[in-house]
Amino acid sequence: MNASVFARSALRAAATSRTAVPVSVRGLASVATSQTAPATPETKKPLMKKFQVYRWNPDEPEKKPYMQEYELDLNQTGPMFLDALIRMKNEVDPTLTFRRSCREGICGSCAMNIEGTNTLACLCRIDRDTSKVAKIYPLPHTYVVKDLVPDLTQFYKQYKSIKPYLQRKDAPTPMKENLQSIADRKKLDGMYECILCACCSTSCPSYWWNSSEYLGPAVLMQSYRWIADSRDQFTEERKAALDNEMSLYRCHTIMNCARTCPKGLNPGLAIAKIKKELAFGSS
Ligand code: SF4
Ligand code: FES
Repeated sequence: MNASVFARSALRAAATSRTAVPVSVRGLASVATSQTAPATPETKKPLMKKFQVYRWNPDEPEKKPYMQEYELDLNQTGPMFLDALIRMKNEVDPTLTFRRSCREGICGSCAMNIEGTNTLACLCRIDRDTSKVAKIYPLPHTYVVKDLVPDLTQFYKQYKSIKPYLQRKDAPTPMKENLQSIADRKKLDGMYECILCACCSTSCPSYWWNSSEYLGPAVLMQSYRWIADSRDQFTEERKAALDNEMSLYRCHTIMNCARTCPKGLNPGLAIAKIKKELAFGSS
Protein backbone atom coordinates (compact mmCIF):
# COMPACT_ATOMS: atom_id res chain seq x y z
CA MET A 1 0.00 0.00 0.00
CA ASN A 2 1.61 3.29 -1.05
CA ALA A 3 1.87 6.50 0.95
CA SER A 4 -0.98 8.22 -0.84
CA VAL A 5 -3.38 5.39 0.01
CA PHE A 6 -2.28 5.59 3.62
CA ALA A 7 -2.68 9.33 3.51
CA ARG A 8 -6.21 9.17 2.14
CA SER A 9 -7.17 6.78 4.88
CA ALA A 10 -5.77 9.09 7.55
CA LEU A 11 -7.73 10.57 10.43
CA ARG A 12 -9.40 13.29 8.45
CA ALA A 13 -11.79 14.26 11.17
CA ALA A 14 -8.93 14.83 13.61
CA ALA A 15 -7.12 17.29 11.42
CA THR A 16 -7.74 21.00 11.62
CA SER A 17 -8.72 23.09 8.63
CA ARG A 18 -5.79 24.79 6.90
CA THR A 19 -5.30 26.89 3.82
CA ALA A 20 -3.44 25.53 0.82
CA VAL A 21 0.32 26.00 0.72
CA PRO A 22 2.40 27.34 -2.14
CA VAL A 23 4.08 24.65 -4.23
CA SER A 24 7.54 26.09 -3.82
CA VAL A 25 9.10 28.61 -1.48
CA ARG A 26 12.57 29.85 -2.29
CA GLY A 27 15.05 32.64 -1.66
CA LEU A 28 14.86 32.97 2.08
CA ALA A 29 18.24 34.61 2.57
CA SER A 30 16.57 37.80 3.70
CA VAL A 31 14.28 36.13 6.25
CA ALA A 32 14.78 37.54 9.74
CA THR A 33 16.78 35.45 12.22
CA SER A 34 14.58 33.00 14.15
CA GLN A 35 14.42 32.83 17.93
CA THR A 36 16.27 29.52 17.86
CA ALA A 37 19.03 30.65 15.50
CA PRO A 38 22.28 31.92 16.96
CA ALA A 39 23.32 35.46 16.06
CA THR A 40 25.84 35.40 13.22
CA PRO A 41 28.26 38.10 12.12
CA GLU A 42 26.87 40.25 9.30
CA THR A 43 29.88 39.33 7.15
CA LYS A 44 29.09 35.61 7.08
CA LYS A 45 28.05 34.58 3.59
CA PRO A 46 24.65 32.87 3.21
CA LEU A 47 24.88 29.07 3.03
CA MET A 48 21.69 28.15 1.17
CA LYS A 49 20.43 24.58 1.57
CA LYS A 50 17.37 23.01 -0.05
CA PHE A 51 14.93 20.83 1.88
CA GLN A 52 12.12 18.73 0.43
CA VAL A 53 9.32 18.04 2.88
CA TYR A 54 6.40 15.59 2.52
CA ARG A 55 3.07 17.42 2.47
CA TRP A 56 -0.46 16.08 2.61
CA ASN A 57 -3.55 17.89 3.78
CA PRO A 58 -6.61 15.85 4.84
CA ASP A 59 -8.81 18.83 3.98
CA GLU A 60 -7.75 18.49 0.33
CA PRO A 61 -8.28 14.74 -0.18
CA GLU A 62 -8.37 15.09 -3.97
CA LYS A 63 -4.76 16.34 -3.90
CA LYS A 64 -2.07 13.65 -3.76
CA PRO A 65 0.84 13.89 -1.31
CA TYR A 66 3.75 15.87 -2.73
CA MET A 67 7.22 17.08 -1.77
CA GLN A 68 7.47 20.81 -1.07
CA GLU A 69 10.78 22.57 -1.47
CA TYR A 70 12.12 25.11 1.00
CA GLU A 71 15.47 26.83 0.96
CA LEU A 72 17.12 28.13 4.13
CA ASP A 73 20.35 29.92 4.96
CA LEU A 74 22.11 27.49 7.30
CA ASN A 75 24.06 30.40 8.78
CA GLN A 76 20.75 31.77 10.05
CA THR A 77 19.38 28.40 11.20
CA GLY A 78 20.08 26.19 14.22
CA PRO A 79 22.10 23.01 13.63
CA MET A 80 19.31 20.40 13.84
CA PHE A 81 16.52 19.44 11.43
CA LEU A 82 13.95 20.51 14.02
CA ASP A 83 15.49 24.01 13.97
CA ALA A 84 15.02 24.09 10.19
CA LEU A 85 11.41 22.84 10.41
CA ILE A 86 10.53 25.40 13.11
CA ARG A 87 12.03 28.14 10.95
CA MET A 88 10.09 26.97 7.88
CA LYS A 89 6.86 26.99 9.89
CA ASN A 90 7.44 30.25 11.81
CA GLU A 91 8.84 32.34 8.99
CA VAL A 92 7.76 30.84 5.69
CA ASP A 93 4.76 28.55 5.83
CA PRO A 94 2.54 28.28 8.95
CA THR A 95 0.55 25.42 7.38
CA LEU A 96 3.54 23.04 7.66
CA THR A 97 2.57 20.54 10.37
CA PHE A 98 4.80 18.39 12.60
CA ARG A 99 4.99 17.34 16.23
CA ARG A 100 7.64 18.51 18.66
CA SER A 101 7.86 19.33 22.31
CA CYS A 102 11.06 18.95 24.35
CA ARG A 103 13.66 19.73 21.66
CA GLU A 104 16.20 17.52 23.41
CA GLY A 105 15.44 13.87 22.62
CA ILE A 106 13.21 13.22 25.63
CA CYS A 107 9.59 13.30 24.49
CA GLY A 108 9.86 11.33 21.22
CA SER A 109 7.27 13.46 19.46
CA CYS A 110 9.52 14.74 16.65
CA ALA A 111 10.18 11.22 15.27
CA MET A 112 10.23 11.26 11.46
CA ASN A 113 12.14 9.87 8.51
CA ILE A 114 15.07 12.13 7.60
CA GLU A 115 17.40 11.27 4.74
CA GLY A 116 16.00 7.73 4.69
CA THR A 117 16.42 7.01 8.40
CA ASN A 118 13.85 7.09 11.19
CA THR A 119 15.18 9.49 13.79
CA LEU A 120 14.37 12.41 16.07
CA ALA A 121 14.46 15.74 14.22
CA CYS A 122 15.76 17.50 17.32
CA LEU A 123 18.81 15.20 17.55
CA CYS A 124 19.54 14.99 13.82
CA ARG A 125 22.15 17.42 12.50
CA ILE A 126 21.69 19.09 9.13
CA ASP A 127 24.35 18.05 6.64
CA ARG A 128 26.04 21.34 5.67
CA ASP A 129 26.84 20.01 2.19
CA THR A 130 24.56 22.32 0.18
CA SER A 131 24.89 20.25 -3.02
CA LYS A 132 22.57 17.65 -1.44
CA VAL A 133 18.83 18.21 -1.02
CA ALA A 134 17.63 17.03 2.42
CA LYS A 135 14.45 14.95 2.28
CA ILE A 136 12.02 14.70 5.20
CA TYR A 137 9.09 12.24 5.38
CA PRO A 138 6.74 11.06 8.13
CA LEU A 139 7.57 7.74 9.85
CA PRO A 140 7.18 5.06 7.15
CA HIS A 141 4.22 2.69 6.86
CA THR A 142 2.04 4.76 9.15
CA TYR A 143 -1.21 6.45 8.29
CA VAL A 144 -0.66 10.18 8.01
CA VAL A 145 -2.74 12.66 9.98
CA LYS A 146 -1.19 15.64 8.20
CA ASP A 147 2.22 16.38 6.63
CA LEU A 148 4.85 14.92 9.01
CA VAL A 149 2.38 13.80 11.70
CA PRO A 150 1.92 10.01 11.81
CA ASP A 151 -1.16 8.37 13.30
CA LEU A 152 0.19 6.35 16.27
CA THR A 153 -3.21 5.18 17.53
CA GLN A 154 -2.40 1.49 16.93
CA PHE A 155 1.07 1.85 18.47
CA TYR A 156 -0.34 3.27 21.72
CA LYS A 157 -3.22 0.78 21.74
CA GLN A 158 -0.65 -2.01 21.65
CA TYR A 159 1.41 -0.32 24.37
CA LYS A 160 -1.68 -0.14 26.59
CA SER A 161 -2.38 -3.85 25.92
CA ILE A 162 0.84 -4.98 27.66
CA LYS A 163 -0.20 -3.23 30.90
CA PRO A 164 2.89 -1.04 31.22
CA TYR A 165 2.70 -0.55 34.97
CA LEU A 166 3.60 -2.43 38.16
CA GLN A 167 1.18 -5.26 39.00
CA ARG A 168 1.25 -7.06 42.36
CA LYS A 169 -0.70 -9.92 43.89
CA ASP A 170 0.12 -8.92 47.48
CA ALA A 171 -2.36 -6.70 49.23
CA PRO A 172 -1.19 -3.11 48.75
CA THR A 173 0.70 -1.64 51.70
CA PRO A 174 0.01 2.08 51.68
CA MET A 175 2.92 4.39 52.36
CA LYS A 176 5.43 1.55 51.82
CA GLU A 177 7.74 1.39 48.85
CA ASN A 178 8.35 -1.77 46.83
CA LEU A 179 12.11 -1.94 47.25
CA GLN A 180 14.51 -3.32 44.66
CA SER A 181 18.15 -4.32 44.98
CA ILE A 182 20.78 -2.45 42.96
CA ALA A 183 21.42 -5.63 40.95
CA ASP A 184 17.71 -6.05 40.12
CA ARG A 185 17.44 -2.40 39.17
CA LYS A 186 20.38 -2.82 36.78
CA LYS A 187 18.38 -5.45 34.84
CA LEU A 188 16.15 -2.61 33.57
CA ASP A 189 19.06 -0.69 32.03
CA GLY A 190 18.76 -0.44 28.26
CA MET A 191 14.96 -0.62 28.45
CA TYR A 192 13.66 2.03 30.85
CA GLU A 193 15.33 4.73 28.72
CA CYS A 194 12.90 4.11 25.83
CA ILE A 195 10.94 7.26 24.96
CA LEU A 196 8.32 5.46 22.81
CA CYS A 197 9.17 7.44 19.70
CA ALA A 198 8.19 4.47 17.45
CA CYS A 199 11.29 4.86 15.24
CA CYS A 200 12.16 1.18 15.76
CA SER A 201 8.70 -0.30 15.20
CA THR A 202 8.12 1.72 12.02
CA SER A 203 11.47 0.59 10.62
CA CYS A 204 10.62 -3.11 11.11
CA PRO A 205 9.32 -4.95 8.00
CA SER A 206 7.50 -7.50 10.17
CA TYR A 207 5.66 -4.62 11.84
CA TRP A 208 4.89 -3.02 8.47
CA TRP A 209 3.07 -6.14 7.29
CA ASN A 210 1.51 -7.33 10.57
CA SER A 211 1.02 -4.29 12.77
CA SER A 212 -2.60 -5.20 13.52
CA GLU A 213 -1.36 -8.22 15.54
CA TYR A 214 2.44 -8.19 15.87
CA LEU A 215 3.36 -5.94 18.81
CA GLY A 216 6.59 -4.68 17.26
CA PRO A 217 9.99 -4.02 18.86
CA ALA A 218 9.14 -1.00 21.02
CA VAL A 219 6.11 -2.54 22.70
CA LEU A 220 7.80 -5.94 23.12
CA MET A 221 10.77 -4.29 24.80
CA GLN A 222 8.41 -2.46 27.15
CA SER A 223 6.70 -5.74 27.89
CA TYR A 224 10.04 -7.31 28.80
CA ARG A 225 10.88 -4.24 30.90
CA TRP A 226 7.99 -5.32 33.21
CA ILE A 227 8.76 -9.05 32.94
CA ALA A 228 12.30 -8.27 34.12
CA ASP A 229 11.17 -6.03 36.98
CA SER A 230 11.76 -7.84 40.30
CA ARG A 231 8.86 -5.95 41.94
CA ASP A 232 6.22 -7.13 39.45
CA GLN A 233 4.28 -10.28 40.41
CA PHE A 234 2.56 -10.98 37.09
CA THR A 235 5.66 -12.20 35.26
CA GLU A 236 4.20 -15.52 34.10
CA GLU A 237 0.92 -13.93 33.00
CA ARG A 238 2.84 -11.33 31.02
CA LYS A 239 4.91 -14.01 29.28
CA ALA A 240 1.87 -16.17 28.56
CA ALA A 241 0.13 -13.21 26.90
CA LEU A 242 3.03 -12.94 24.44
CA ASP A 243 3.37 -16.67 23.72
CA ASN A 244 1.52 -16.83 20.42
CA GLU A 245 2.41 -16.80 16.78
CA MET A 246 1.47 -13.19 16.06
CA SER A 247 2.23 -11.03 19.14
CA LEU A 248 5.86 -12.14 19.44
CA TYR A 249 6.97 -14.65 16.83
CA ARG A 250 6.48 -12.37 13.82
CA CYS A 251 9.90 -11.07 14.86
CA HIS A 252 12.35 -12.62 12.40
CA THR A 253 15.45 -10.99 13.91
CA ILE A 254 15.86 -8.53 11.04
CA MET A 255 17.26 -6.10 13.66
CA ASN A 256 16.40 -2.82 11.93
CA CYS A 257 15.19 -1.78 15.38
CA ALA A 258 18.69 -1.88 16.89
CA ARG A 259 20.19 0.03 13.97
CA THR A 260 17.47 2.69 14.06
CA CYS A 261 16.91 3.59 17.72
CA PRO A 262 17.98 7.24 18.20
CA LYS A 263 18.55 6.51 21.91
CA GLY A 264 21.00 3.69 21.13
CA LEU A 265 18.77 0.96 22.58
CA ASN A 266 18.40 -2.59 21.25
CA PRO A 267 14.79 -3.82 21.38
CA GLY A 268 15.89 -6.95 19.46
CA LEU A 269 17.89 -8.04 22.51
CA ALA A 270 14.81 -7.79 24.75
CA ILE A 271 12.77 -9.79 22.20
CA ALA A 272 15.48 -12.48 22.12
CA LYS A 273 15.34 -12.69 25.94
CA ILE A 274 11.55 -13.12 25.90
CA LYS A 275 11.85 -15.93 23.33
CA LYS A 276 14.59 -17.61 25.38
CA GLU A 277 12.64 -17.40 28.63
CA LEU A 278 9.54 -18.82 26.95
CA ALA A 279 11.59 -21.69 25.51
CA PHE A 280 13.81 -22.49 28.51
CA GLY A 281 12.37 -20.59 31.49
CA SER A 282 14.08 -17.73 33.35
CA SER A 283 17.82 -18.11 33.92
S1 SF4 B 1 13.45 1.49 21.54
FE1 SF4 B 1 14.38 3.39 20.74
S2 SF4 B 1 13.45 3.65 18.70
FE2 SF4 B 1 12.16 2.19 19.81
S3 SF4 B 1 10.55 3.44 20.70
FE3 SF4 B 1 12.17 3.22 22.27
S4 SF4 B 1 13.49 5.01 22.00
FE4 SF4 B 1 12.22 4.88 20.15
S1 FES C 1 11.13 17.29 20.37
FE1 FES C 1 11.13 15.83 22.01
S2 FES C 1 12.33 14.20 21.20
FE2 FES C 1 12.46 15.73 19.66
